[in-house]
Amino acid sequence: MNNKYFFIYGGEHVELAGAELRALVKSYHPDVLLQNLERRVSIVDGYIDLQKITSRVICTKYAGQLLSLSDGINFDPEEYFRSYTKFACKLINLSQKYVSIEAVSNLGKYIKEKSPWMQVSLDNPDIIVLYVVTNNGSMIGFTEHKYVNSRVKELRKRPYFHNVALEPRLSRIMVNLTMVRENDLLLDPFCGTGSILLEAEDMNIRTVGCDIFASMCYGALANTLNTQSCIVNCDALSLPFQFKDINVIATDLPYGISASTMKRLPKTLLKEFVSLISDEMKGKRCCIMYKNSDELLFNNVVEEYNIYEHKSLTRKLIVLCS
Ligand SMILES: C[S@@+](CC[C@H](N)C(=O)[O-])C[C@H]1O[C@@H](n2cnc3c(N)ncnc32)[C@H](O)[C@@H]1O
Repeated sequence: MNNKYFFIYGGEHVELAGAELRALVKSYHPDVLLQNLERRVSIVDGYIDLQKITSRVICTKYAGQLLSLSDGINFDPEEYFRSYTKFACKLINLSQKYVSIEAVSNLGKYIKEKSPWMQVSLDNPDIIVLYVVTNNGSMIGFTEHKYVNSRVKELRKRPYFHNVALEPRLSRIMVNLTMVRENDLLLDPFCGTGSILLEAEDMNIRTVGCDIFASMCYGALANTLNTQSCIVNCDALSLPFQFKDINVIATDLPYGISASTMKRLPKTLLKEFVSLISDEMKGKRCCIMYKNSDELLFNNVVEEYNIYEHKSLTRKLIVLCS
């Protein structure tokens, strides 16, 4: 068995999907090699805890063991499929060209011939063998069904909803971009309804959230309600605790539209906050979201993304580390 893995991203936020995966792989396995096969496919060469990574990523649609990277079927099913009995094959065409389904039926026939104990089961397979076609070639890999990512959490089903709430997917990406690990302490100093805290908790990360409005703090408390979370009603510019125990920051600052800035200019608040943390968080990763203006505001940015929402809102997501 090789130690090679594939990750296929969904069509949304593809650039962020790659960044999310890079951050997690680097955090847990700093020595393994991660390469882009094409825009939506990455390959990891070296042992990784696949279950751990797949339990954290939100933008990856399929992930699993890589079987073959060249055109044609050249892997030995005996080597990989001994502990499974049911399989399905699936074609994923990421290229611009037409691909005949015949390629997949040939793959199915090959598996049945080389591993006769395996039965086709489209409804309840142990594994899905993926035949992935890209503009540059093709690859074959397999995924255990449970790894197929279908986590969707609805904002409006939470006990407390306010329209400042950040989409769960973006909240999770932000947490992951900080490279935070289990039991680390994450701070969201502008926590609002607690979307970022919730995602962090879901990954067993300890959290502290702050908001200047007591009503938001009660809302965040109702949404998180986890013994791992602590919510403080305070101004992010004068936090009543020290930064030394905080490992990372992930936060979404007010844009001055739905979320109040208490009459401060959003940009001033952003600059003051970043200047406050630049000394306190030296060497630690801080993932910050704000309403984009095209100005270059900070010089210790290690990653930067624009996220278009609609014609009057493009968000800027930056990772700071200095
Ligand atoms: C964009 S919202 C955060 C939304 C949050 N990510 C969520 O999903 O609910 C920004 C939050 O910052 C809070 N806020 C504004 N000024 C603040 C300050 N000086 N200190 C702390 N919180 C502040 C607002 O009350 C608002 O809840």
